[in-house]
Amino acid sequence: MKFFVDTADVAEITELNEAGLVDGVTTNPSLIAKSGRDFIEVTMEICALVDGPVSAEVTAMDTDGMITEGRKLAALAGNVVVKLPLTFDGLKACRALTDEGIKTNVTLCFSANQGLLAAKAGATYISPFIGRLDDLGVDGMELIENLRIIYDNYGFETEILAASIRSADHVQQCALAGAEVATVPPAVLKGLVRHKLTDAGLEAFLADWKKTGQSIL
Ligand code: E4P
Repeated sequence: MKFFVDTADVAEITELNEAGLVDGVTTNPSLIAKSGRDFIEVTMEICALVDGPVSAEVTAMDTDGMITEGRKLAALAGNVVVKLPLTFDGLKACRALTDEGIKTNVTLCFSANQGLLAAKAGATYISPFIGRLDDLGVDGMELIENLRIIYDNYGFETEILAASIRSADHVQQCALAGAEVATVPPAVLKGLVRHKLTDAGLEAFLADWKKTGQSIL
């Protein structure tokens, strides 16, 4: 399973990249606003930093506008993936950009039928939002499972990029359900390493080591 980091915070990306945990990055307009950075500038910086796909989202609402913005974003770096909303205009833009050889990430997917349409439009990635469904009392993980079945039924090559991930359990469930990618906020990604038995075991090992009076160096 690939991990994308869901942030536009360059310092966070750098730290996780050093641990070999970054297969790609996703951003959205809210994350860009949170970073306080210029969109184009920070996108180029992330693209240079990361050896993997970096999603940058269009903000136009109409197909022609999305295509124009998508071409501009794709020209920034070879690893840009153009993120498009799951609207009818977004699907048309997806087909057009895909036909030009530009990689796409169709975002804001909340139903299996939407995911089916995105795959038919040639999306490189589909982003089903788990946490936002959970927020409404709907099982977000069921969407991941259903998309997996549908894509396998018909041999679609669109990759399931599980998004709106809020917890370590979300990550584990996505891995079990066969999502190719999970895009994970930095805090959640760092939190995956933690286990209280690891902490307790390490504490006991170090206490016993101290008793030996030895030093490795
Ligand atoms: C995905 O690409 C989105 O950027 C992100 O996962 C949305 O997460 P949120 O619902 O926590 O805002």
